[in-house]
Amino acid sequence: MRNILITGGAGFVGSNLGQYWKRDFPEDRVIALDNLKRRGSELILPRLKKSGIEFVHGDIRNREDIESLGKTDLILECSAEPSVQAGYHGDPRYLINTNLSGTLNCLEFARERGAQFVFLSTSRVYPIHAIRQLPLEESGERFSIPSGKKGVGWSEHGIAENFPLEGVRSLYGATKLSSELFIQEYASMYGLETIVNRCGVLTGPWQMGKVDQGFITLWASQFLYGGHLTYIGFGGGGRQVRDILHVSDLYELLKIQIGNMPKYSGKTYNVGGGVGNSISIRELSRLCSSLIRKSLEIDSVPDTHPADIPYYVSDNSLITSETGWSPGKSVQNILEEVFLWLKDYRPQLEDLLLRR
Ligand SMILES: NC(=O)c1ccc[n+]([C@@H]2O[C@H](COP(=O)([O-])OP(=O)(O)OC[C@H]3O[C@@H](n4cnc5c(N)ncnc54)[C@H](O)[C@@H]3O)[C@@H](O)[C@H]2O)c1
Repeated sequence: MRNILITGGAGFVGSNLGQYWKRDFPEDRVIALDNLKRRGSELILPRLKKSGIEFVHGDIRNREDIESLGKTDLILECSAEPSVQAGYHGDPRYLINTNLSGTLNCLEFARERGAQFVFLSTSRVYPIHAIRQLPLEESGERFSIPSGKKGVGWSEHGIAENFPLEGVRSLYGATKLSSELFIQEYASMYGLETIVNRCGVLTGPWQMGKVDQGFITLWASQFLYGGHLTYIGFGGGGRQVRDILHVSDLYELLKIQIGNMPKYSGKTYNVGGGVGNSISIRELSRLCSSLIRKSLEIDSVPDTHPADIPYYVSDNSLITSETGWSPGKSVQNILEEVFLWLKDYRPQLEDLLLRR
């Protein structure tokens, strides 16, 4: 029996990973620690209980909250302020104290307990300006990298791990990159076993999408429930592209990595849906509309938020070559699952997801 601690365990990624873990390894003890900051996280609690996951109401900014926990063999660090826009219009301390200081508390806890440490980093460690400088073309309803064009760390397959890191990346990206550096040092200095995956967009049912984070469930919920949507930035045409990965595909990868820690520990991987699972928001509108046979008028604002980028697609070449893993669920599969969830849980979700 292993003791697994999932920080941010009532959030979208943490709660799903916990439930998959309990399904596959029912003998393990799984603890979900969360401060319930994310709106909607409280709806997850009965699901955790039903799966046999123990919930601890705690905050990773407080060392005492973590240290009161007992024996721990593996930490999945899934707590965060996950919005790239956090801090732009006000006090950045919550973001920094959670995403950097809090992560360091978790890392220190892992060192003391000799626990393995899994960190969900982000594509947002790559600098904004450098991504905006990519020679994108406008093809149909999306931006894309022209076939055959490439440079250091980028090609038509997306962004690879060696994409240059020089430049600003938002405070969110900076806290994640700083955490990565500490994790690397702890792995080297203390022999801690660690995994760092820089994820593109993760999504699926139970993601409490909002305007600044979780755009797939935001889009689907506004289409289904009759809300309001706007194409913002890069001229307002909705041609920004992201790759999307179902959280169950992330779990399948983590199982491979955790199952062979000596092979994957200390390394950093880009992980996402890849080119095959990429979509622009304009294409997303079209797909939502065709899946539920409903249209929605979408506003347009041409001005671009300072943190926004026109394109991000994970180049999965490294992780696929080392593990054999690749994403299983297509964009359409993911959307269909999300719509089913939104329909099944409408009484609980509608007010919450339409709130702006
Ligand atoms: N969802 C994505 O597209 C995506 C992409 C790349 C990386 N990530 C990373 O994956 C992780 C999980 O993201 P998510 O999408 O599940 O976000 P989420 O907001 O759904 O979950 C994060 C959870 O952390 C909790 N939390 C916030 N501050 C806390 C604190 N100080 N102490 C304890 N709990 C706290 C929140 O209440 C929430 O339940 C984050 O580290 C995020 O940066 C997410």
